[in-house]
Amino acid sequence: MDHLETKTYDVLVVGAGGAGLRAAIEAVDQGVSVAVVCKSLLGKAHTVMAEGGVAAALATTDSRDGWRVHFRDTMRGGKLLNDWRMAQLLAQEAPARVRELEAWGALFDRTPDGRILQRNFGGHQYPRLAHVGDRTGLEMIRTLQDRTVQAQRIDVFMECTVARLLTDDGRISGALTYRRESGRFLLLRAKAVVLATGGIGRAYKINSNSWEYTGDGHALAYDAGADLIGMEFVQFHPTGMVWPLSVRGILVTEGVRGEGGVLKNSRGERFMFRYIPEMFRGDFADTEEEADRWVADVIAGRKAEARRPPELLTRDVVARAIAQEVREGRGSPHGGAFLDIASRRKAEDIRKKLPSMYQQFFELADVDITREPMEVFPTTHYMMGGVKVDPESQAATVPGLFAAGEVAGGLHGANRLGGNSLSDLLVFGRRAGAGAATYARAQSGEPGVETRQVDAITAELLAPFERKGSESPYAVQDALQDMMGTCVGIARTADDLQNALAALGELRARAGRVGVDGNRQYNPGWHTTLDLRNLLTVSEAVTRAALARRESRGAHTRVEHPDSDKRFGTVNVVVRRQGDAMTVVEEPIVPVPGELRDILEGKD
Ligand code: FUM
Repeated sequence: MDHLETKTYDVLVVGAGGAGLRAAIEAVDQGVSVAVVCKSLLGKAHTVMAEGGVAAALATTDSRDGWRVHFRDTMRGGKLLNDWRMAQLLAQEAPARVRELEAWGALFDRTPDGRILQRNFGGHQYPRLAHVGDRTGLEMIRTLQDRTVQAQRIDVFMECTVARLLTDDGRISGALTYRRESGRFLLLRAKAVVLATGGIGRAYKINSNSWEYTGDGHALAYDAGADLIGMEFVQFHPTGMVWPLSVRGILVTEGVRGEGGVLKNSRGERFMFRYIPEMFRGDFADTEEEADRWVADVIAGRKAEARRPPELLTRDVVARAIAQEVREGRGSPHGGAFLDIASRRKAEDIRKKLPSMYQQFFELADVDITREPMEVFPTTHYMMGGVKVDPESQAATVPGLFAAGEVAGGLHGANRLGGNSLSDLLVFGRRAGAGAATYARAQSGEPGVETRQVDAITAELLAPFERKGSESPYAVQDALQDMMGTCVGIARTADDLQNALAALGELRARAGRVGVDGNRQYNPGWHTTLDLRNLLTVSEAVTRAALARRESRGAHTRVEHPDSDKRFGTVNVVVRRQGDAMTVVEEPIVPVPGELRDILEGKD
C-alpha cells in the first residue's frame, strides 16, 4: 500500500455541523488537541437547512415560559419515551447556550424592545424558537464556524469521509478516512472520537436532507460495536414541497404554521380540527374562531390567551393527517395539502418573516406565497434514533466513542419537536466535547492502531475497482430509496417490513456486485458505492426495530397495532451487532423520577 498519511489527536470530531463544531470548540477549550473531519466544505453542513429556529425557554416573548414547560412539551412530544435526563438537560441548558451563541456574534430577530424574538412551533406551548427569519441554522453555523476558525488550534480536514472507526483492545483509537478529492487515505489516530454526522434521510427518496446524510455515524458506531436505540422512529416532517417533481421533499418550514399558516384539503376544509389526539385535546383550539383569535394575538405581539391552532400539533400527528387526507381522495392537484399563509398575513410580513420560503416557492415552483397557497406533503426529515449515549457525557457503549446531535439517540423519544434539534446540538455538542476531552486526558500513551486492521480495511474499500461490476451504485441506491419509502414509510405493516428485510438481502447482494470505473481521484461512483454499506446498515436497523415495536407511538405507525401499548412505553428497542448478525433486543427505560413526574402531570 502507498505511504499512509497519519496524524494523531486527543479528540477527533466527525462532522462539522452544529454539534460537531460545538463539540470541537469545547474540547479545545479544555486544552486537548482536536481535529474535525467533514465530508463537505466547512460551513456547508446540513445544519444550515434547519430553518425555523432554536428552541430555548428564554421567555423573552412570553414570560409564562420556563424550563419546566419546555421539559414537559419535549417529553409529551416524544410520547414519554425520551431519556428524561437528556430532556431535562436540554430544557435547562438551552437558554444559556443560545445566549452564549449570541455573545459569539449570532444575530437573532428582536422584539420591539430589543430582546430575542421567539416564534411558535408545533408542540411548544409558548413561543420558544429564537430565530433569524427562516435562516436560523445558517446563522448558527456561521457563528460556530467563526468561533472554530478563531480558536486556531482546531485542525479541519474538509471533503474527507470516515470509512471505518478503529479500535484497540475494545477502545476507540481513531478513524480511517479517504480524501474525496484525491481518493487517498488518511489515518487519524485519536484517543476519543465524537460522532456528529447527522441523520439517515438519504435512505429515502423523498427527503429534506442534504447529500451527506447517508447514516455514516450510525453505521460506523454499529460496526464498532455500539448500541443503537430508537431506530424505528424516523420523522416525516409534515410539510415538504411536492411540485415540481424535481424539488419534491425540500423543507417547507414549520415557521409558516408558527406564523399563522393553515392547512386545507381540496374541499377547502381546515382538516386538522378532526385530528386532535385525546392527549392534546385540552391544549388546542377546536373552533376556527378560537384558532383565529390566537393568530390575531400573535400578529399583534400579545400573549395569546386562546388555545393554539391544531396546525401546531406535533409533527407525527400533522404528517399522518395530511397523508390520510390525500389517501382518502381530498388531496391537492399534485397529491398534497394546501398550506395557506397568504390569507392570514400581509405580503410584507411574509417576505420579512419567511424570506427563504418566499424565494424557494417563487423560484422553484413559480408560486407567490404572498398570494396563493403552497402544496405540501410529508418528507423524511429527521432520525430520532441513534447511538445510545450517557446523558451527562454523551459517551457511547464503546469506550472512547461519543455522539451528539442527530446521530445520538434518546433525547427526542418517539418524536422530536421542531427547533429542539438546534438546541440539542448546542447543549449536547458542548457536553460531548467536554466528555471526550475528559476521557482523552485520562488515557495514557498513544492510541494503538494495528497495520493489519488498516490494511484489511483499505483492501475492502478499494475492492470495487477490482470488480468487473454488473451493477451501478446509483441503481442500487435508487432501488433502496424506493423500497424504504414503500415498505418502511409513515405507515408500516408486518408484511411490508418482512418484504423490506427480504429486499435488503437482495440489495446487499447487488451492492456486492458493484464495480467502479476510473481512478480514485474525485470519483462519485466510488463514493456512492462506499455510502451504500452505511445506507444498507441503517435501513436494516430501522426495519428490524420497526418490526420489533408492535404498537404505534409518535412517528412509528404500525397499521395492525394502531394504538400505543403500555408495555412498549417502558422499553427501548436496541439494535446491536453480534458477529455479522444484527440483533434486536428490548431494554427497560429508566423511569422518570418523582419531581419530574410532577412536572409531566402538571402538578409543578
Ligand atoms: O420546520 C423547520 O424549520 C425545521 C426545523 C427543525 O426540524 O427543527
